[in-house]
Amino acid sequence: MLAGTNQRKRVLSGMRPTGKLHLGNYVGALDNWVRMQDKYDCFFFIADWHALTTDYADTSGIKRNSLEVALDWLAAGLDPERCTMFIQSHVPQHAELHLLFSMITPLGWLERVPTYKEQRDNIKEKDLGTYGFLGYPLLQSADILIYKGDFVPVGDDQVPHVELTREVARRFNSFYPKPHSNFYKKQQPVFPEPQPLLTPSPRLPGTDGRKMSKSYGNTILLTDPEPVVRQKLKTMVTDPKRIRRSDAGDPDVCPVGDLHKLFSDAATMSKVNEGCRSAGIGCIECKGWAADALVQILNPIQERRKKYESNPRLAWDILEAGCVRARAVADATMQDVRNAMLISLDYEPPQSPEDK
Ligand code: TRP
Ligand code: SF4
Repeated sequence: MLAGTNQRKRVLSGMRPTGKLHLGNYVGALDNWVRMQDKYDCFFFIADWHALTTDYADTSGIKRNSLEVALDWLAAGLDPERCTMFIQSHVPQHAELHLLFSMITPLGWLERVPTYKEQRDNIKEKDLGTYGFLGYPLLQSADILIYKGDFVPVGDDQVPHVELTREVARRFNSFYPKPHSNFYKKQQPVFPEPQPLLTPSPRLPGTDGRKMSKSYGNTILLTDPEPVVRQKLKTMVTDPKRIRRSDAGDPDVCPVGDLHKLFSDAATMSKVNEGCRSAGIGCIECKGWAADALVQILNPIQERRKKYESNPRLAWDILEAGCVRARAVADATMQDVRNAMLISLDYEPPQSPEDK
């Protein structure tokens, strides 16, 4: 069935163009998206305007990073036949809706978004005291509502943004009930109130044992070739109490143990549990098995990526086709919005008393 033409519930989510994706992005989001494609009518987009809210002073990487993200999406198994993927800035209706929302959104709603003050004060190398940075959760609301999304798969850090989106939808609907030709028919509000779909996010440690994150420099990329994966695993931290080969360890407090839990089969898992706790295996051997499991996950991803990597035009064409589909949906919503706000070009204003 063609995406966008059916009765399935709609899912909408976005990702900032941060460049090549890592395993944390995969298990925390992308893998879930891939599995949602048949169950929902999915819209996934690259949030390049969101990147501008913090990286406005140097925009040189945005285009390249957007392509890298698209390549990784396709490599991971997002399928343009089964979902709509596109670039935010190529659907300018997001900006129009954001502007209209900005008229009805009290400043306090934005100022109390938990990440706002925290990031503005903590990220010292950029001046985030800008209008765009304050407004970025509202841009996110426009991203979601312009597709009348039912569900928004996000990590728990993004839940307040979906909450804000629900409040904005409610406020819009209460100010501007949809004008309906049939007076007796119950009026449908313009916007649904979308629900967050919390991505079950297993703990995925990076090579230093902290959460895997680009800003920590502890990532394993989806594009890392086998030797690089093995090398990164070799330097990965382990149970700190296991200093000598003869010390027993505990996979439950070891980042490598966490990788095994996510990616290794039951047989390997029991070898690890047994061998680590009895000092029967060494960490080098154990890390080798973890690397085996990772390589097995990454192989098909890297195989799929090749076709697009050698011909990026294919990926751009897919995004462009997605934009066409997205624009059609976004445009229909904007018609509803302008009608409800009585600012539609087609709208006939009521005659004022003086004209009579
Ligand atoms: N703000 C999200 C992030 O930083 C990305 C994003 C932008 C998004 N627009 C969205 C996510 C709409 C879900 C829905 O990860
Ligand atoms: Fe970690 Fe494996 Fe070493 Fe145990 S044997 S401490 S699980 S790396």
